[in-house]
Amino acid sequence: MLVEKVARRACTCSWSTPRYRLYSTRSQPSPPLQVQGKTYARDTYSNATPTILSKVGKNLHLKPNHPLSILRSRIEAHFPQFQHLNSLSPIVTVKQNFDDLGFPPDHPGRSLTDSYYLNKQEMLRTHTSAHEVELFKAGVEQFLLTADVYRRDEIDRSHYPVFHQMEGANVTTRGEGLARLEKENEEMRQRLDSANIIITDPTRETTATNPIQEEHSEEEARIISDHLKNTLNTLVLRLFGGLRKEGDQEPLQVRWIEATFPWTSPSYEVEVLYEGKWLEILGCGVVKQDALNRSDVPQKLGWAFGLGLERIAMVLFSVPDIRLFWSEDTRFLSQFNEDSITPFKPYSRHPECYKDLAFWTAEGFHENDFCEVVRDVAGDLVEGVQLIDEFVHPKTNRRSVCYRLNYRSMDRSLSNDEVNEIQAKVIETVVEQMGVEVR
Ligand code: DAH
Repeated sequence: MLVEKVARRACTCSWSTPRYRLYSTRSQPSPPLQVQGKTYARDTYSNATPTILSKVGKNLHLKPNHPLSILRSRIEAHFPQFQHLNSLSPIVTVKQNFDDLGFPPDHPGRSLTDSYYLNKQEMLRTHTSAHEVELFKAGVEQFLLTADVYRRDEIDRSHYPVFHQMEGANVTTRGEGLARLEKENEEMRQRLDSANIIITDPTRETTATNPIQEEHSEEEARIISDHLKNTLNTLVLRLFGGLRKEGDQEPLQVRWIEATFPWTSPSYEVEVLYEGKWLEILGCGVVKQDALNRSDVPQKLGWAFGLGLERIAMVLFSVPDIRLFWSEDTRFLSQFNEDSITPFKPYSRHPECYKDLAFWTAEGFHENDFCEVVRDVAGDLVEGVQLIDEFVHPKTNRRSVCYRLNYRSMDRSLSNDEVNEIQAKVIETVVEQMGVEVR
């Protein structure tokens, strides 16, 4: 998930070095950005491209009979008492997305190479957690929020710069509130005990790296964590339990892993064993007192989680490429309907065509910027971008890279001429905007 991933990247990324700016016009002042009828002033942070902004408002999670919408409804059915929010604007402040949640000022997730900014103050949310504090502030105690989120990233079959997340949160007061959670714990535990599920949970032991909060007694921390775990284990059972093949006696397997998020402690990740592979489906934890104080509800306590819809939908609906979710082709859309989860039947796999591109990089080169240009020029016709070779010239110290660009359409055959034309445009644009030198 975001925090883990960007943290891992932190050692290699060059975000703190000065970088040239994509899409800035040096000679003329740029007009302000227009998104959904609102105007946003540009500044040196503005890096949201027209291609990305064109995705705002598509709301795939609300499209009837779309796999993402079907999955959303399933998950909502698991939380009947919660407020279901589906239409919050993807444009949030940097404060909402990062500061309110306790992200340190130098967190790599904030960098221009990882996130899309409209300007220094406003950005496209990188996760649905961006709304937690405002909702707690508004007095909402139980919510399930589904929305599009935006991240600059590599290009392959499971990464797309826009995807969908669901955020769930449940906060309450001590006394009656906690007593209710404890009662629900008992009911959920019984359900899990009689189900064909194996839950492996080494995080039951508190560790120094994943402590309970000093504001919570051991009993309070246990009730909240148990409620979070029981809620999500029963959700996994609902989503994955019914799907196994007939006669399959193998129990469903779930495991809990220690994690770190700036606004929760303890924090966890959940993985499900599906067709022989462990699939990470969500991050979660007990909301930190800090975040609740910032929400003006210091007396409350509870949990939150965030899950990625595409990742689960790709597995449950056997969708082989994340771009398919954006397809307008009726051969894709007509296959699904609201009341069942059925595997996607590929209508035809059109041939792929790849082109290699080698160049000397300029100072501050970042792969995500390169992918952005490719995405902007080629749109959904690009399936993957892969670094296949790199070296540093021993004398000049210049770095040379070679990328393989895979082109494939989801719904038709591409001609060689068409691909050559796109590739030529990619080359022209990277040379112009990134100052690289093609070899
Ligand atoms: N927002 C996190 C991400 O995108 C996921 C997450 C983790 C959400 C922990 C939460 C949470 O609410 O408590 O990686």
